[in-house]
Amino acid sequence: MVCAKLRRNLPTPEILTPEQRAGADDGYRSHILHVEPGGAFSIIGLVWRPGQITRIHDHLTWCVFGVIQGIEHEELFDAELNLLGESDNHTGDVSGFAPPGDIHRVHNTGDTTAISIHIYGTDVTRVGSSVRRYYD
Ligand SMILES: [Fe+2]
Repeated sequence: MVCAKLRRNLPTPEILTPEQRAGADDGYRSHILHVEPGGAFSIIGLVWRPGQITRIHDHLTWCVFGVIQGIEHEELFDAELNLLGESDNHTGDVSGFAPPGDIHRVHNTGDTTAISIHIYGTDVTRVGSSVRRYYD
């Protein structure tokens, strides 16, 4: 349901300011765009310059995400960190997951800055982060 809503309402990169869209040299950037009153979900904008990558991690809650610029390459791992699969998410792609089984890493493998919108089923300002655990 959230997937379908985001697919129908996927914003353009202009939902972020030019400064936010520029990203940063020292790693990807995360911008909180909205926290639903009551804390049911949060909407985050992520900005990755080419080559930037997350640590291997999983999440506290379900997540629905849509790529609004560039490419995000995702690798999925099992609990022993064996690679289970990988996929490229292109501009306009919307997908989602829910724990458990969401140990993953995201990498901008394209040659332009990548931007995506992530919706997490919690108030990230209250719990501090959407990440449950890092695995490295
Ligand atoms: Fe993640």
